[in-house]
Amino acid sequence: MSLDKTYRLVPGTTVFDAEQSAKGYHLNQFCMSLMTAENRAAYLADERGYLDAWPLREEQKQALLDRDLNAAMREGGNIYFLAKWGATLGFSFQQMAGSMTGMTEQEYRDMMVGGGRPVEGNRIDHAVLDAAYADRKAPAEHATITGAVFTSHVPAIGAAMDHDKTDEPYWKPLFEGYDLSKDWEKENLPDVVFLVYNDHASSFDLSLIPTFVLGTGAAYPTADEGYGPRPVPGIEGDPDLAAHIAHSLIRDDFDLTLANEMTVDHGLTVPLSLMFGDVEKWPCKVIPFHVNVVQYPVPSGARCFALGQALRKAIESYDRPLKVQVWGTGGMSHQLQGSRAGLINREWDNAFLDRLVEDPAGLARVPHLEYVEEAGSEGIELVMWLIARGALSDVDGSGRVEVKHRFYHVPASNTAVGHLILENHPRAEQPAEGVN
Ligand code: DHB
Ligand code: FE
Repeated sequence: MSLDKTYRLVPGTTVFDAEQSAKGYHLNQFCMSLMTAENRAAYLADERGYLDAWPLREEQKQALLDRDLNAAMREGGNIYFLAKWGATLGFSFQQMAGSMTGMTEQEYRDMMVGGGRPVEGNRIDHAVLDAAYADRKAPAEHATITGAVFTSHVPAIGAAMDHDKTDEPYWKPLFEGYDLSKDWEKENLPDVVFLVYNDHASSFDLSLIPTFVLGTGAAYPTADEGYGPRPVPGIEGDPDLAAHIAHSLIRDDFDLTLANEMTVDHGLTVPLSLMFGDVEKWPCKVIPFHVNVVQYPVPSGARCFALGQALRKAIESYDRPLKVQVWGTGGMSHQLQGSRAGLINREWDNAFLDRLVEDPAGLARVPHLEYVEEAGSEGIELVMWLIARGALSDVDGSGRVEVKHRFYHVPASNTAVGHLILENHPRAEQPAEGVN
């Protein structure tokens, strides 16, 4: 089913959703630039010249030059952003709102003094609503989740690749564990990777600590984590699919933060390097999804697992036949701090891998304390794997998964490295006798 956007039928109203936001991104960011006296003076001195310096569509520039706020709204403008532009020109909220109604300023003022616009006659037309519902049908095509990849994301692995050390005795056994993975990716290349990772104080410092961040932007450059950015390509996002996922997940009560601009650190680039090798350009689009596992409280395994289930619903309701892989990264056991630094618990890690395959719902109930105590303080990164696992079709019994690869190695810098590839087989693909 496509998403419910019935709010579009409310007459004389534009609801500002992720789709409108993408459409009006630069227009609204231009408005924000008017929050300094210097920029306001520059704008007033040469409106056309100032607008031309922004990557705006001609329709957007013309809407502002014509003082046509209805056109600006159609073009993705949002009233709170446009208010900055209005203030620059000396328009109040009342003048701006009134200008969109087809009334004179005085008529609008009089209407407000008289009690405002009545809701009677301004509701959704029922005939239009009924026709819209009658018209709704399941899309002929939809996106599918073809598999999940789980892998650690140690920065030293990226450095070993960037400095040609992969054949050294320390690194060789680790990289051999990913040979099959690279072949598998070549044979099963998705259109989009939905990549669950954590930012490590690179894009999000202590001024902003969102729990879940979905990347809805067009592109994200590689972060400089102190040694200069890794010499790997930035990622190309999929704003349309990401906007759809945002809509679906937030409607399912997951209160996401949406990021149109941020940099991506080793948490995201190292898994891409491990799975795709040394490339000029990543072979598919990547939607970044950051989870706060740096400052407590961090989300529970159960919450991550539930989010993964809602993510499958979101992806499978997208009406384009895209192949999507969901990746979970971070872990396995590692502790980067204190007198317990270097903690490795092979038994716990391997039991985690077993349960991730066979008993993900039970694994999702493991409390944070156990991760920290058994797998080290930074082992908590493993909760992110439950998002990717929750997105597979065996979880609700409708399909099955197949283990394509499993690998475990100690050490990479301070950590144990764990890796799993699970293929997802929704029901339609199941053999007649069925498995699971
Ligand atoms: C290391 C591992 C990590 O997952 C990370 O984010 C940073 C450092 C390490 O073992 O060096
Ligand atoms: Fe990490």
